[in-house]
Amino acid sequence: MDKRRIAVIPGDGIGPEITTATLEILEAAGFKAEWIYLEAGQPAIDKGRPPMPPETLDAIREIGTALKGPTTTPVGKGHPSANVALRKALDLFVNVRPTRSLPGLQGYFKDTPINLIIVRENTEDLYAGIEFQPHPDIAQAVKVITRPGCRRLCKYAFEMVREQGRKKLTAVHKANIMKLTDGMFLDEFYAMAKNYPDVEASDIIVDNCCMQLVIHPEKFDVLVTENLYGDIVSDLCAGLVGGLGLAAGANIGEHCAVFEAVHGSAPDIAGKGIANPTALLFSALMMLRHIGEGEIADKIGAAVLKTFGEGKVMTRDMGGTSSTFQFTAEVIRNLG
Ligand code: NAI
Ligand code: MG
Repeated sequence: MDKRRIAVIPGDGIGPEITTATLEILEAAGFKAEWIYLEAGQPAIDKGRPPMPPETLDAIREIGTALKGPTTTPVGKGHPSANVALRKALDLFVNVRPTRSLPGLQGYFKDTPINLIIVRENTEDLYAGIEFQPHPDIAQAVKVITRPGCRRLCKYAFEMVREQGRKKLTAVHKANIMKLTDGMFLDEFYAMAKNYPDVEASDIIVDNCCMQLVIHPEKFDVLVTENLYGDIVSDLCAGLVGGLGLAAGANIGEHCAVFEAVHGSAPDIAGKGIANPTALLFSALMMLRHIGEGEIADKIGAAVLKTFGEGKVMTRDMGGTSSTFQFTAEVIRNLG
């Protein structure tokens, strides 16, 4: 049988280092694929191409599944985000971000079992990137929320709660202030809830949600929210369980899926060989489950948990002194 084709976008910053580490672990665990390398971010810009080149988008469309490293977006100036372009062009309308407490980790909730998932809308909201300046002293941005966008997001979230045998779905919003946009999201959420009487549906205002997450993260199960709130709340959740080096994500659309860590290109540590590859590796495990390779994902997941549990070989963000390479080798050793 032909090997499965999977697109790989190493990206920039720490991207290439953690991509190499992740693919080594996948292959050591027995997952065989033909990796199709594609460019985005700085390597594309260096060649005079846009940060998310059209040929990269075409290839992902054709291949269907991609593993992506982070790509840098300059703040306040420069080129537009490769990620926003990717998610919009491929209509990857959902971003799934699980948060789970793991053994042997730093973090405020070492002893609290946290196991929640954020389902973030990925193409609308203020990230539609519609900004203008009607006057030198005034800048405006348009928040775009559509009814079909809310519907498909909420449907995906309710279905996921069911499929994963979870119980509660909480809509996170600011409909008290954003009456039309977030109000529409909330209306569609409760309309969809009627089709899922087995799921306990509730809602919470985003600022209160942040406070509750910091005090009682164990009370949450699945959260569904718009793009901007989801971006912020998912970094908050990453911080609860040991930081961005661990937080995985999946961008899912009707026709393709792109798996990538929550974190960015970490320019402060890029090229030093000290980045934690776990977030991208966990994203790759989501990819394996997505393509029906759950057994290999479980095997790798167990090796990572063993490595964390032993606590001997940890990267610096997790309080250790090991390099990316040493951590990778230890996970491979623990594959047994
Ligand atoms: P960041 O996530 O790159 O880094 C924040 C902090 O976390 C830094 O101190 C970094 O060293 C640390 N960190 C992140 N990942 C780590 C890992 N795997 N191992 C160890 N430490 C890690 O966020 P920042 O600095 O705000 O953004 C840097 C660039 O990344 C920006 O240009 C931003 O636009 C881009 N970005 C790209 C994303 C993507 O491609 N999906 C997502 C988020 C940001
Ligand atoms: Mg973010």
